[in-house]
Amino acid sequence: MRHIVIGLGALVVAACGGPGGAGEGTTPAAAAPAAVTPAAAMPAAATFADYDAGAIAGGPGAGKRYGFGRQAAKADIAKWDTDVGPDGAELPSGKGSVAEGERLYMTHCMMCHNRKGEGLPPMYPALIGRDEKAEGFHFASDPKLVKTIGNYWPYATTVFDYVKRAMPLTAPGSLTDNQVYALTAYLLSANKVIAADAVLDADALRKVKMPYADKFVPDDRKGGPEVK
Ligand code: HEC
Repeated sequence: MRHIVIGLGALVVAACGGPGGAGEGTTPAAAAPAAVTPAAAMPAAATFADYDAGAIAGGPGAGKRYGFGRQAAKADIAKWDTDVGPDGAELPSGKGSVAEGERLYMTHCMMCHNRKGEGLPPMYPALIGRDEKAEGFHFASDPKLVKTIGNYWPYATTVFDYVKRAMPLTAPGSLTDNQVYALTAYLLSANKVIAADAVLDADALRKVKMPYADKFVPDDRKGGPEVK
């Protein structure tokens, strides 16, 4: 079989047996070199972007060219730069209702997180649950208690952030902002944090206070507030 390599350097061509390779029924010496682009005509390192973004100034790689990759464009960065912090300042526009979220949940999430969000242990975590026994934040004294969004998570904005970035597990980033608002609304409502007829947008989501938010305190190791 003949190997034709496009866009790679002389090293790869050489590894395949040199220009022409060993074609069927031919010996390497008889192979026609014209069928393969000569290494000299391949794009040289100079056509690749200067790329030393990984090099630390003054470090061993500083100023070196690696000969691959290109500078990240603004659009590339925007695709990844979607993190939403606790105060929700970065939340995008859009909105979604609990009812829409429930429909989306049944299509995109239920197969892993189960019909009522109770999870499929040990692999798939529970998302919904306000079991009486697990109320009161006693997770440290009873490790069997199941943590959920409703009985544990300190910030509602994190639900949006996480779902948008990481879920569904098999196709992260595939949901629109409206869909993520709807799913966030459904998960918060099913966890008895917001009403069943709620519609969430950036403003509304920023205002949601989680039941156990005050159990998370800064630990400065200097005798901060006592956790009850
Ligand atoms: C293919 C299986 C699968 C699907 C589908 C899926 N998830 Fe997940 N999900 C997971 C797994 C596995 C984890 C745990 C990931 C981890 O801990 O790193 C997880 C974690 C989560 C968490 C964090 C739970 C916690 O308390 O730590 C949330 C929230 C979540 N998923 C929401 C969703 C939503 C909303 C959908 C539908 C849009 C969805 N997931 C679809 C497998 C899935």
